[in-house]
Amino acid sequence: MKLKTFQVSLSSDLYNMKNTVNQALEFINENKPNLNKNDVYDIKLVLNELLANAIIHGNKKNKSKNVYLKMKLKKNSIYTKISDEGKGFDYLNYLSKYNSDKSSQMKENGRGIKLACSLTDCIAFNSLGNEIKFLKKVNPNG
Ligand SMILES: Nc1ncnc2c1ncn2[C@@H]1O[C@H](COP(=O)(O)OP(=O)(O)O)[C@@H](O)[C@H]1O
Ligand SMILES: [Mg+2]
Repeated sequence: MKLKTFQVSLSSDLYNMKNTVNQALEFINENKPNLNKNDVYDIKLVLNELLANAIIHGNKKNKSKNVYLKMKLKKNSIYTKISDEGKGFDYLNYLSKYNSDKSSQMKENGRGIKLACSLTDCIAFNSLGNEIKFLKKVNPNG
C-alpha cells in the first residue's frame, strides 16, 4: 500500500473537534476498510482525548490558535501527530507523579494521557510538550 496522509488544522473550539475526528475516521475507513473495529474505536477515543487536551490545556480554547493533526497510514501501523500553539507542559514530571500516586488514578480527570498510552503502541512528546505523536499497530490486511 502506498503511504497515505491526512492533514488538517482546526481552530481551538471543541465544537470543531467532533468534525475533525469524523474526517480522520473516514480517511482511515476509505483507505483501510477492513480494519478491526476495536482498533478504529481505540483511535477514536485517543484522538478525542488528545485533541481535547490540545484545545483546552494547550491553546486554552483561544480560537485564534490552531491545533494541527497529521495522520499517516502505513501497511502495519497508523501514525498520528497532534500539535498545538500553547506553552507545552512538563510531561515527564506529570507522568512520574501520576505513576507514583495511586489515588490520582481513581480520579475522573487526568486519564486522557494514560488512556492514550494504554490504547496505542508508542507515544512521544516533543521537548516542550505541545506536540504528541502516537503509533498504533494494525493488522496489515485491514
Ligand atoms: N497539549 C497540552 N498542553 C499543555 N498541557 C497539557 C497538554 N496535554 C495535557 N496537558 C497537561 O496534562 C494533564 C493531564 O492530561 P489528561 O491525562 O488528558 O487529563 P485531563 O485532561 O483530564 O486533565 C492536563 O491536566 C494538563 O495539565
Ligand atoms: Mg485530557
